[in-house]
Amino acid sequence: MHSTSVKELLSTPPASQEVTVNGWVKTFRSNRFININDGSIIHNIQCVVDFESLDQHLLKQITVGAALRVTGKLVESQGSGQAVEIQVTDIFVHGLADTEDVKLTVLSPKKHSLEFLREQAHLRVRTNTFGAIMRVRSALSFAIHQYFQQNGFYYFHAPIVTGSDAEGAGEMFRVTTLDPKKPPLTEEGDVNYKDDFFGKETNLTVSGQLEAEAYAMALGKVYTFGPTFRAENSNTSRHLAEFWMIEPEVAFNDLDDNMDLAEDFIKNVISYVLENCKEDLQFLEKRLLDEEKTKPQIERSEMALIEKLEFVSQNTFKRVSYTEAIDILRNSKPNKKKKFKYLINEWGADLQSEHERYLVEKHFKCPVILFDYPAKIKAFYMRLNEDGKTVRAMDILFPGIGEIVGGSQREERLDVLKEKMETLGIPEEELWWYLDLRKFGTAEHSGFGLGFERLVLFATGMGNIRDVIPFPRTPQNAEF
Ligand code: 4AD
Ligand code: MG
Repeated sequence: MHSTSVKELLSTPPASQEVTVNGWVKTFRSNRFININDGSIIHNIQCVVDFESLDQHLLKQITVGAALRVTGKLVESQGSGQAVEIQVTDIFVHGLADTEDVKLTVLSPKKHSLEFLREQAHLRVRTNTFGAIMRVRSALSFAIHQYFQQNGFYYFHAPIVTGSDAEGAGEMFRVTTLDPKKPPLTEEGDVNYKDDFFGKETNLTVSGQLEAEAYAMALGKVYTFGPTFRAENSNTSRHLAEFWMIEPEVAFNDLDDNMDLAEDFIKNVISYVLENCKEDLQFLEKRLLDEEKTKPQIERSEMALIEKLEFVSQNTFKRVSYTEAIDILRNSKPNKKKKFKYLINEWGADLQSEHERYLVEKHFKCPVILFDYPAKIKAFYMRLNEDGKTVRAMDILFPGIGEIVGGSQREERLDVLKEKMETLGIPEEELWWYLDLRKFGTAEHSGFGLGFERLVLFATGMGNIRDVIPFPRTPQNAEF
């Protein structure tokens, strides 16, 4: 049966035309006003029933959460709050809502804690907040593909199962079909992965970068957008064990080109949601304001959500070298007064999120791109600078988020790369194909990785990464 979405109905001029809408009951007041939402938009459509003429049995079935098909006339609304409403002529109940089950409370207009809703992740998306977040998430995904497709990039699908540790950090999930109780053993008594499904040790990918480099060295400009996995035991509001990453890789780009690309890309996708997700952003902005009312003044954001997004899309990111950043941090108040958990004493220290947030939120008060990090604290594939101790790395730091992007110019010189791998104990046999790329027409090239959920966090003003992915995977949690 032909039906119209709530989104479409709300922008249709009312002329008493017959319309049909499917959706779930949000509220039912005075046995007369049914508010229906179908997920197409944050707003509901009001359906007005004449309960005297409605079958009593049917009336009882209209409860919060039930799925209905409503037919009626689209008319100008009598009440305030909405332009149009439906004068109901027919109701069909697709499915009842179990009023005995306490989980039904998720669907009621009552406010719930985000922690509680996380446990009901299959139902939370029916709330206004999660509906808005997930629509923004979808729009951002589209904007990302659109940006790259319009700028001459090819979408490249990196493998999910790999034999390499792209970040060299060893935080991988093993992929195996061996029986954990009695795996085949080598003569030395180690597990014999030659007998495993792939005939070698394999893991879920931590990054599609290395494979993307191979494709950039043929197609020129490529990007990945897919799930990546990290078995790091970080129980923070910024880390997931399964997250989505966008990784562009461009042949012949140096680090400056890479920074330009990242900045332009982020501004572009944020502008896209500002233009295309107005109502959801307005709702999320209000939600954030309400949430922050309960917090002390100093913990509240200086800008409202939309203003913050506009600020980022219109202002130049500050580019600062690691060395400059260390000077700033060393001389900062929280460092001198020993307020940082990790004090910055010397060049070479790895930056913690408290430092990143100080630079962005207190010192520069805008997004910051840090570049030229010490080689020691960065991955093996980054291009070594002339000074012999820093690499052409860059991280983009965002207010309220910390690191949102990590990238670099890649080491394209075979001898330098081999030497680096040797010092780090990365066997050449494992990455023979990666080394090959430096043998056949090597060239400077660069890329970066943007953590998609961190971008969604920023765009929605949410505080915990578990609330911007449908079914979060974190240590000790893989429900659903
Ligand atoms: O800085 P990372 O580890 O860089 C790489 O993986 C490179 N291979 C990317 C590249 O150059 N192609 O990760 C990139 C981004 C981080 O800046 C962060 O936004 C996100 O991925 N990220 C995570 N997001 C959620 N949960 C986690 N556990 C994350 N780890 C990294
Ligand atoms: Mg990083």
